[in-house]
Amino acid sequence: MADTKQNKRIFSGIQPSGNLTLGNYLGALKNFPLLQNDYECYYCVVDLHTLTVRQDPEALRERSYSLIALYLAAGLDPEKNVLFLQSHVPQHAELSWILGCYTYMGELNRMTQFKDKSSRHADNINGGLYTYPVLMAADILLYQTDAVPIGQDQKQHLELARNIAERFNKIYGDTFVVPEPFIPKTGARVMSLQDPTKKMSKSDDNANNFVLITEDEASIMKKFKRAVTDSGSEIIFDEENKPGISNLINIYASIKGISREDVEKEFAAARYGDFKMAVGTAVCETLAPIKARYEELMKDKQYLESILRKNGEKARTVAGETLKDVYRKVGFIV
Ligand code: TYM
Repeated sequence: MADTKQNKRIFSGIQPSGNLTLGNYLGALKNFPLLQNDYECYYCVVDLHTLTVRQDPEALRERSYSLIALYLAAGLDPEKNVLFLQSHVPQHAELSWILGCYTYMGELNRMTQFKDKSSRHADNINGGLYTYPVLMAADILLYQTDAVPIGQDQKQHLELARNIAERFNKIYGDTFVVPEPFIPKTGARVMSLQDPTKKMSKSDDNANNFVLITEDEASIMKKFKRAVTDSGSEIIFDEENKPGISNLINIYASIKGISREDVEKEFAAARYGDFKMAVGTAVCETLAPIKARYEELMKDKQYLESILRKNGEKARTVAGETLKDVYRKVGFIV
């Protein structure tokens, strides 16, 4: 195994396909800095993945800088973590081709995100959308990753990456570390504020459904005030019968780092309206300093650029070792 690492490794990625939502924050980004002292962490801006849906080139470039700035603003230390762009490391695309030859169409056909995205973009069901989970497997396996911090919606993709790794290891001997998902207890699936039966998503057409990490406070408070609640008046976690309140409990628990039961106790005597305002306030308190740091960082593109260049180099070295091992094993002349 091309595995010269000293510490356990973490890899995760976020697409620069829109402004990040509270869902991206609670499901993924918030957990990234918590790992930086105990693991060797690779956090990637997965720009290749975004082309599965049409992008405006200038906007995509800007959002890639934006996402690196958000990684930093959320507390990731650029000296401790490898923060980089996927397109700066050609090994991702190269390994993806190889792994595609070890992935069955039956497996890709089962991916719920493919089914969901192809129904939303019926005029552009392209090959990339279909093979997207293979590229994601390549992202993870290139770095001999032990754990992948992700939200619930990426669990199926991670299971596929594990299956591909195991299959490859069985044929060629130990080549890849088989990664574990790292899914938070609360905040792993933040739902839409207006329709709590569907996931909060940065590509949603209705802006009232989501809260952005960089949104201003007045607007965040307005959205929580208008958030859909359920019949009854009790603040209890019951996803089936009270999806709206359950979503708000989940958000508050995740933001405060407490359990759902603690939230129920804290608001046992509160009314829906007061609870919604408390959740909005807690969200604003957490996001405001991140937004302020983000705005500062976006003024210094040169600094962001220097991080990308330096880290791209580091990522290419590690990824190159794995790819070389794979090339040798499958029978290429290296
Ligand atoms: P993406 O860019 O859609 O989302 C980034 C991260 O945010 C999480 N997330 C959520 N968590 C809780 N509630 C929500 N409503 C919510 N919406 C999004 C996602 O689970 C994800 O962790 N395929 C990935 C990107 C990717 C990747 C990787 C991730 C590419 N390669 C390798 C990990 C490892 C995606 O589209 O995430």
